Amino acid sequence: MSYRKIFIFMSTVLSIMAIANQILLQGDTLVLILILAFSTLGWYDLLQKKNAVLREYPIFGHLRYILLDIAPILHDYFVENNTEGRPFSKNAIKQVYARAENKPGYHPLGTERDFYKEGLEWVGHSMFSKGEFQDPPRVLVGGPECTHPYSASILNISAMSFGALSKTAIQSLNKGAALGGFSHNTGEGGLTPFHMEGGDIVLQVGTANFGFRYPDGHLDEEAFRKKSTLESVKMVEIKLSQGAKPGHGGVLPAVKNTAEIAKIRMVEPHTDVLSPPFNPSFPTEEKLVEFIGKLRELSGGKPVGIKLCVGQPKEFESLLDRFLSQDIYPDFITVDAAEGGTGAAPLDYSNHIGMRGDDALKFVHNSLINKGLRDRIKIIYAGKVVSGFGMFKAFCYGADLCNSARGFMLSLGCIQSLKCHTDHCPTGVATQNPELAKGIVPSFKAHRVRNYHDNTIADFIDIAETAGVTSFSQFSQELISIYKPVS
Ligand SMILES: Cc1cc2nc3c(=O)[nH]c(=O)nc-3n(C[C@H](O)[C@H](O)[C@H](O)COP(=O)(O)O)c2cc1C
Ligand code: SF4
Repeated sequence: MSYRKIFIFMSTVLSIMAIANQILLQGDTLVLILILAFSTLGWYDLLQKKNAVLREYPIFGHLRYILLDIAPILHDYFVENNTEGRPFSKNAIKQVYARAENKPGYHPLGTERDFYKEGLEWVGHSMFSKGEFQDPPRVLVGGPECTHPYSASILNISAMSFGALSKTAIQSLNKGAALGGFSHNTGEGGLTPFHMEGGDIVLQVGTANFGFRYPDGHLDEEAFRKKSTLESVKMVEIKLSQGAKPGHGGVLPAVKNTAEIAKIRMVEPHTDVLSPPFNPSFPTEEKLVEFIGKLRELSGGKPVGIKLCVGQPKEFESLLDRFLSQDIYPDFITVDAAEGGTGAAPLDYSNHIGMRGDDALKFVHNSLINKGLRDRIKIIYAGKVVSGFGMFKAFCYGADLCNSARGFMLSLGCIQSLKCHTDHCPTGVATQNPELAKGIVPSFKAHRVRNYHDNTIADFIDIAETAGVTSFSQFSQELISIYKPVS
């Protein structure tokens, strides 16, 4: 007999028995309610047409979906070891928590990594002390066209919009940035009242020009001028692409497009709003270069840079030639790794599009050297930089500064539950649900954000001194070795 037939038989018999028991013997009402509720659910499953599993296995079919939902949690707690988790291993997450809590984060007994696995990276330490790291952990960003160069920390909060993150998360990050003297990138969602907690701002111009746009998506120069000239805005970043979904736009669905978000982004509330893959304000290389110059002028001479995940190397080199031929240059280039993060992206884009971080960083660094532009353009790197070693490696491969998105999310208490796209973030970090967002208390979390920043930089300087590096000019690719089995 099929499961469907068993269900029909059982639900009919049990329902009749429960009703009879209730009427004739004044039986337990709760039992009657439970039996009728399960029976109704089962009949609904049986009669609906969308889901074959539920039609075949009324009630029990739901178990499959419940298990699929909790599988990552079970896997995380019972299956995964400390070094394997993705995007971040348990050990990496614990290290961020320790840095955020101002704890030393010591690891007992020795490494858990497989030291004989091909590809393991290591730093060659120096035999003798070369002294303390001399340079202050700040870098001046801004070429000759800038009248307001910015002295940036070497670790900053990477772009994440209000919309992807909750308002309490944004407030905590900004307060943390204010406490620690580092910068906070608005993300493509634009500048919001929640960014006004005293932290330095990097104003991002996304592909939809959210926050300074006309209804057709083009840049509203006056609106941009007003925001970019605010005292707290220190730099402007034009987003060309993002590592987790390069060349892919997004949709802000009508349900998430609340009156508050619509006002900030300058769009029609309660409608689907398209974030295009490419910015309509600069359809060509030439227009992009003009756009860089225009934004620098409108912002009153602040540093303006571009953010991209490297795709086709030739296109990037051609853009550098274009800077030279038009004699207009960005002040910085943010290199985003293909393994970078996002709130939501199509899996094919996250898995298969764009150049991985190490290669992209070395490529951009070398291309700038080859074109004679390295001294004039700073490189900011973002791509799973969550530790002192991560920073050290980025500096060796050519970065002048690092950005971290997910490191700072973890410092807020993110538990890597991978639900950012569902609006059900259990920690209140990536949600617009006000009840969940209340889980984050900005006045408390801001200290964790600041501690994480300060302690990670301290780790980075420790490693640099261990390797005998005492100034930024001494970083080089040779300091990083990669294990290959000796045959
Ligand atoms: C929740 C979330 C939202 C993001 N939103 C943006 C965005 O609005 N604009 C952007 O350029 N990058 C965005 N990013 C990418 C990050 O800024 C960063 O470049 C990338 O995640 C790599 O850094 P990470 O490895 O430290 O996370 C987002 C990332 C995350 C995790
Ligand atoms: S706790 Fe989960 S849903 Fe929330 S930000 Fe972290 S990964 Fe995303």
